[in-house]
Amino acid sequence: MTASYPATRLRRTRATAWSRSLHRETVMTSADLIWPLFIIEGKGAEEPVASLPGVSRWSIDGIVARAKEAVDLGIPCIALFPNTPDGKRSDDGAEAYNSDNLMCRTIRAVRDAVGGDLGILTDVALDPYTTHGQDGLVDGSGYVVNDNTVAVLVDQAVAQAEAGADIVAPSDMMDGRVHAIRMGLEMNGQPNVQIMSYAAKYASAFYGPFRDAVGSGGRLKGDKKSYQMDPANGDEALREIAMDIAEGADSVMVKPGLAYLDIITRAKARFEIPVFAYQVSGEYALIEAGVAAGVGEREPLLMEKLIAFKRAGCSGVLTYHAPLAARLLNG
Ligand code: PBG
Repeated sequence: MTASYPATRLRRTRATAWSRSLHRETVMTSADLIWPLFIIEGKGAEEPVASLPGVSRWSIDGIVARAKEAVDLGIPCIALFPNTPDGKRSDDGAEAYNSDNLMCRTIRAVRDAVGGDLGILTDVALDPYTTHGQDGLVDGSGYVVNDNTVAVLVDQAVAQAEAGADIVAPSDMMDGRVHAIRMGLEMNGQPNVQIMSYAAKYASAFYGPFRDAVGSGGRLKGDKKSYQMDPANGDEALREIAMDIAEGADSVMVKPGLAYLDIITRAKARFEIPVFAYQVSGEYALIEAGVAAGVGEREPLLMEKLIAFKRAGCSGVLTYHAPLAARLLNG
């Protein structure tokens, strides 16, 4: 309810910095950030990702250093993505559930270094481990089969949980995987491991740089439209989210971020559960490209996009800009 002009002049509260700060509806802090990190084999190794300027793949020791940096910056959680060596990729992605794979060794090293001071979120999907770059097992026609894939994802999630992951995050979009993973965790003595489901994950053109970073992009034939969602659909996203909640997800993710703010708002209003957004690799790269092209300054461009996620209803945001954002937010 608003009186008409001049009884109401909405500019009154905007006139000074103290008043703007008093009336600010949404706050963001470094505690709202999750920092995605790419892992490679080796020691002391850092490989810049060409399509993500400013982002590198790190060997385990480098990831441990980033994890300590996250703690120092007040970032509560990191998300890990391995770039599996070529020789360990296979049609069936079996390396995904090897308890000594790059992911599990990294989880243990980070846990050793930071104890319980940092959340470790791990991606559950087969694309960093398959020779074809799909998130699941493919049949003769190239179709990603659902139920056999789910069985492998359960083994992958349990291996990650046993290595010390706090949150397993299935990003594969198979039907029924949240229930199966929840039961797998229960039956394997991991009842307190959270599931953050990539519940509404769209078949997006914004994932290109990520696929470079994990080395799946060049291998991928075709697309992921038979399992990731059609960008035109909103009601279907709510059905995906409802199912994942019913199957045992502790929180849900909408991905990509900025193009799907309506889904975030609808999900939060409908289900009143923690909703996270993934500001994906293409979104990061576009900000960097914009800065390089003189569109504007990096910091304000970034912070305006990040606050939009909070305003839309997010509990937090996965972003490759997390360390920069945390530095800005910490002053
Ligand atoms: C893999 C996965 C993808 C991303 C996160 N997990 C890529 C894909 O589905 O092809 C994308 C993240 C990003 O673009 O930053 N299942």
